[in-house]
Amino acid sequence: MADLPIDLKVETISTFYGLSQILFELSFEVGRSEVVALVGRNGVGKTTTMRSIAGLTRPRSGRVLWAGEDIVGLAPHRIARLGIGYVPEDRRIFPELTVWENLDVVWRSPDSDWTEERVFDIFPDLAELRGRDGGHLSGGQQQMLTIARTLMTGPKLLLLDEPSEGLAPLAVERMVDRIKALKEEGLSMVLAEQNTDVVLALSDRMHVVEKGVIRATLSPEEVREDENRLTSYLML
Ligand SMILES: Nc1ncnc2c1ncn2[C@@H]1O[C@H](COP(=O)(O)OP(=O)(O)O)[C@@H](O)[C@H]1O
Ligand SMILES: [Mg+2]
Repeated sequence: MADLPIDLKVETISTFYGLSQILFELSFEVGRSEVVALVGRNGVGKTTTMRSIAGLTRPRSGRVLWAGEDIVGLAPHRIARLGIGYVPEDRRIFPELTVWENLDVVWRSPDSDWTEERVFDIFPDLAELRGRDGGHLSGGQQQMLTIARTLMTGPKLLLLDEPSEGLAPLAVERMVDRIKALKEEGLSMVLAEQNTDVVLALSDRMHVVEKGVIRATLSPEEVREDENRLTSYLML
């Protein structure tokens, strides 16, 4: 896996829940070590896009190319083992296990170079809390632990679903710093976010999602020049 190209190419995926179509031939790409944001209001299909990539909801048509191979139809655990780590919105840690145990129980790729200690280097807050039960962490700490757990599997690409959601401003800042550190480690990311500051701080490219399609693509430079370009899409 290590020598293969790791780019993700989402090609015209259409995804449904039952009869209701959520994604309409949605396409985008993520280059190596790139952070690509999906921005948009609640209910536009950001999470569904991530679920479609992670294999949790199978797109009815279209392709998801990972290292050149179509992964649509593979089981979620197979996709995870190919190096795509999904960090869902709801923080799925084990509350009765300690921080260290939460990290220790996850499946690890044989070629994952992530260890508890290396994860603690990225998340020093967690290092101090290694003996504490997951259930006794703050929201921000739980979010960090959720990301840290996914790192242990050795992903090349992280799907980060609203990492700042529900966090206090200071915790959001810490989270942004840690995600930057991960970017510096060379991880590619798809970031679903509604917090424009977070998006601006982290992304190489922003796709505005509306009703299951990408309505606009913006660079951070364009948004810094005129934030309305982005915020106008996020208002009702
Ligand atoms: N399991 C589900 N069954 C049916 N509809 C769903 C399900 N999950 C999400 N939806 C609907 O799909 C649409 C997109 O949701 P979602 O992808 O979660 O949006 P976002 O992450 O952008 O808030 C919403 O209208 C939501 O109500
Ligand atoms: Mg969502």
